[in-house]
Amino acid sequence: MHAKITLLPGDGIGSEVVAEGVKVLRAIAAQFGHTFEFTEALIGGIAIDRTGNPLPPETLAACQASDAVLLGAVGGPKWSDPKATVRPEQGLLDLRAGLGLFANLRPVKIYPALIGASTLKPEVVANVDMVIVRELTGGLYFGKPQGQSGQAPNREAVDTLRYTEAEIARLMRVSFDLARSRRKKLTSVDKANVLASSRLWRTVAHEVAKDYPDVEIEDILVDACSMYLIRRPGDFDVIATENMFGDILSDEAAMLAGSMGMLPSASLGTGIVGAGLPPQSENADLPEKTRPYGSQSESADLPEKTRPYGLYEPIHGSAPDIAGQGIANPLATILSAAMMLRWSFGLEREADAVEAAVDAVLAAGYRCRDIQTPGCTLLGTQAMGDRVAEQLYV
Ligand code: IPM
Ligand code: MG
Repeated sequence: MHAKITLLPGDGIGSEVVAEGVKVLRAIAAQFGHTFEFTEALIGGIAIDRTGNPLPPETLAACQASDAVLLGAVGGPKWSDPKATVRPEQGLLDLRAGLGLFANLRPVKIYPALIGASTLKPEVVANVDMVIVRELTGGLYFGKPQGQSGQAPNREAVDTLRYTEAEIARLMRVSFDLARSRRKKLTSVDKANVLASSRLWRTVAHEVAKDYPDVEIEDILVDACSMYLIRRPGDFDVIATENMFGDILSDEAAMLAGSMGMLPSASLGTGIVGAGLPPQSENADLPEKTRPYGSQSESADLPEKTRPYGLYEPIHGSAPDIAGQGIANPLATILSAAMMLRWSFGLEREADAVEAAVDAVLAAGYRCRDIQTPGCTLLGTQAMGDRVAEQLYV
């Protein structure tokens, strides 16, 4: 297949890890006979420095004209003054909203080779294999009114947690579809004992659940969930939750795997699938604009080629403390590229090949600094990317 991919390296270690993701995608293209066309665009702090805008209109347009997006990270101390009027993170939020990326998939899986890298006991993390599905374009992050008003000592600020039934339902459908393809267990996380938005969340979750009788659903309050994630993390399969809860729980869950440097993510949405593909491509028979992913409960039975539009990124941040030193772990970005192959392009074999290559490199004892353990071989960012790519060329 032919696909157009927009690269958004962003700030800090972003450009270093994205380069390794591209290296692996090029290896896949060469080995499996695909052509990937890469375009680079600005986002975050570097975009503020160059254009004054964390999401320049050309960047959004480039993403809309491509089949998928690979992002590094945004932000850094240079742009984090609380009084600043523009922030790098706003670029990411505007991109999520602008591309309609409502479902954020954050898989957390423990690699047997890395069991010692977690701060938790091996027997607690041994069977961890879950996906957090975080709602990404609603809730506190986007609700209006939002802002600060008044003068000291009477200043006040407001954020608004608002959800519509449609927003909850489409997120639940993505989550149920995913659970159906896994261990068929869905945990819906809310704060229904306090929040009205959570009571609607729970009601709609159970209405959607009627279409998935083969999937078991449980409700857990967010505070209890944060506790169970540490006490019995192996019990979770798919966790579906609203934006802010998902932000917090996914960082917590990341620690089960030892390092954020290992964890990929996919943000899926309503983009135009197949846009940017030449007429002769495999995807040419797609309807021009596909319906939003998950907008019908039978979406698991979609024709193979109707794929969600997606943005793929490591869940770690820009790590300004180690930027430019060539020591960041690129595996989260490489695994994000694997998710792109699977979710946006439907290239299952190719995605499996990337994941198997990462497994093989870890099993061979290669480590970056964040997951280094005694007796293993320490590698820098580029060398780690090379090891993974070499596995694909054999
Ligand atoms: C994440 C990050 C972002 C978020 C920030 C950078 C805006 O923490 O992707 O989890 O809060 O969504
Ligand atoms: Mg976060």
